Amino acid sequence: MATSYTPPAKLIWWKEPIERTEVIWITIAFLWCIFMFAWMIAWHWIGNQNMANEAYKTTPENYAAKVEAFTSKYTVRQDVNDPSLPVVHPPAGSDVYIAGSRWQWRPLVELEKGKSYRVHISSLDWDHGFSLQPLNINFQAYPGYEQVITMTPNSSGTFTIVCNEYCGIGHHTMLGKIYVKE
Ligand code: CUA
Repeated sequence: MATSYTPPAKLIWWKEPIERTEVIWITIAFLWCIFMFAWMIAWHWIGNQNMANEAYKTTPENYAAKVEAFTSKYTVRQDVNDPSLPVVHPPAGSDVYIAGSRWQWRPLVELEKGKSYRVHISSLDWDHGFSLQPLNINFQAYPGYEQVITMTPNSSGTFTIVCNEYCGIGHHTMLGKIYVKE
């Protein structure tokens, strides 16, 4: 039986008829590709896991200034685990600014359950990954772009922001926190 994985008996092997099962498999694989491709587009409208598509151009300097202003305005304490990090408690419904940089998410924030916030995310140096655990919500944090995500925490507790984009020697230590109060 001539198949694609046996050595070609004739030198001009590409003119031989294709084995029927191979044609069937290629057809199935092709149709599956088309099916998956169509779903990729369809999820844009019918999936409910899409980000808001709200983003603005900024610069690391401008964004750092916003984070600084936000932090100094609403800091309520230093973190119990790492006293070098401020914990910021913004009013419900307000804008929250979190910056990724080598190798921390700053500041730590405290939100209230059931209240909505506009959470801004950007990076001050290079590409970082904003992964909110254990919920597995993921965003990329790019320098120069400020993304805005509307978040309404529906459970209280401590949520960890893990950097999931390799960013250098301290990547694995790049952790932030979102505390959600009842
Ligand atoms: Cu930041 Cu990895």
